[in-house]
Amino acid sequence: MSSAIQNIRGFGDVLPGETPVWQFVEGVFRHELGRYGYQEIRLPIVEKTELFSRSIGEVTDIVEKEMYTFSDRNGDSLTLRPEGTAGCVRAALQRGLLHNARPRLWYAGPMFRHERPQKGRYRQFHQVGAEAFGVPGPDLDAEMILMSGRILRGLGLRNLRLEINNLGTAEARADYRERLVAHLEAHEDALDDDARRRLYTNPLRVLDSKNPALAPVVASAPDLLDYLDEASRAHFEVLRQTLDAAGEACTVNPRLVRGLDYYGGTVFEWISEDLGAQGTVLAGGRYDRLVDMIGGRETPAIGFAAGVERLVALVEAMGTAPDPAAPHACLVVTDTTLMPDSIALAERLREALPALRLEINLGGGSMKSQLRRADRSGAAVAIIRGAEEATAREVTLKDLRGDSGQQRIALDALAQTLSPFCSQ
Ligand code: HAM
Repeated sequence: MSSAIQNIRGFGDVLPGETPVWQFVEGVFRHELGRYGYQEIRLPIVEKTELFSRSIGEVTDIVEKEMYTFSDRNGDSLTLRPEGTAGCVRAALQRGLLHNARPRLWYAGPMFRHERPQKGRYRQFHQVGAEAFGVPGPDLDAEMILMSGRILRGLGLRNLRLEINNLGTAEARADYRERLVAHLEAHEDALDDDARRRLYTNPLRVLDSKNPALAPVVASAPDLLDYLDEASRAHFEVLRQTLDAAGEACTVNPRLVRGLDYYGGTVFEWISEDLGAQGTVLAGGRYDRLVDMIGGRETPAIGFAAGVERLVALVEAMGTAPDPAAPHACLVVTDTTLMPDSIALAERLREALPALRLEINLGGGSMKSQLRRADRSGAAVAIIRGAEEATAREVTLKDLRGDSGQQRIALDALAQTLSPFCSQ
């Protein structure tokens, strides 16, 4: 036998025991996003490479070293999407959704980044993202942040911290950048290779460094907020007031810069205290320049994306996730010649009781082993059908959980007898 083929490192399977938690997480997003007027959009997983390099930025970790890029058979450079915003903006623009409209869109699905796999960080991971277009004011930022808080609390999560910042206009950032470069140059000896490389290409990213050796240089760096233009300052102030009025506590983190170049103005992150290094569970911000960078008319926009694996891990750790749905009943057929007729019976029961989860024990086996399997399935009752029952046009109903024992039921009364079991 040849050796069994394994998965690709960083590309996980979601096993049946885990899917109920995934469905729960996705269900809460779908429900809450719908309540705020967001509509689902489904987007391709592969886009032209240029879409990502133009929007996320050439000098970002994602574009420099994390994209799954390949030439297809026509020689076109294509990329597995590393995130959803670029594709969403591309589709909204290309399909005319931005014409005299302010669409609110959401999407969910796999994203791909060639990062070093570790707990909470994978090469294929899943996001639920939301993007809202056409509204420039802080009212939208506030509503989006409040919605994200409602979703995370709806998942039952606690120990979350909301951090916000404002990156200002491109001009304010350019001004700040000059000061920051001067500061970093003055401490060049203390910089690591990554920071040195970033110094003249993307110095703001140095603020995001996870290297503890760099912490003093980062801590003593000038504050972006001191360089904000008046309009951004006022925008940030109203955002903070609105969050405050709604009772949403937040921390201003002037070092929060985010890893994608399309951001400007408001940025925010929800961070869990319970996940260690990969604690950011939901993150986003304004990208008022992205639509025109991709070729459309300048359109204000803001969005976020949440990491589903990280949320699933938190929900699982709390133990509040719903259990996989067990069948209500198992049909045990002790005489294989009765199988065709028993399958027809099962179909009639499913027809009569649309909520019924009924499993048939296929493949035969002794009565004892079949009942053991029925018990392991979590079913409440076993419906036993042998030669004797068939002749009498009856079944034996065996209580697998309580102490009601077993009783013979006429076939005609079976659907009615099973009906109370289907209520949960
Ligand atoms: P991001 O910060 O790159 O933003 O990713 C958002 C979230 O996706 C992260 O906070 C994290 O929870 C999750 N995530 C990212 N990379 C990984 C990974 N390798 N493994 C597991 N989870 C991961 C964006 O992607 C932006 N498109 C968000 C956005 C939407 N901004 C505006 N609109």
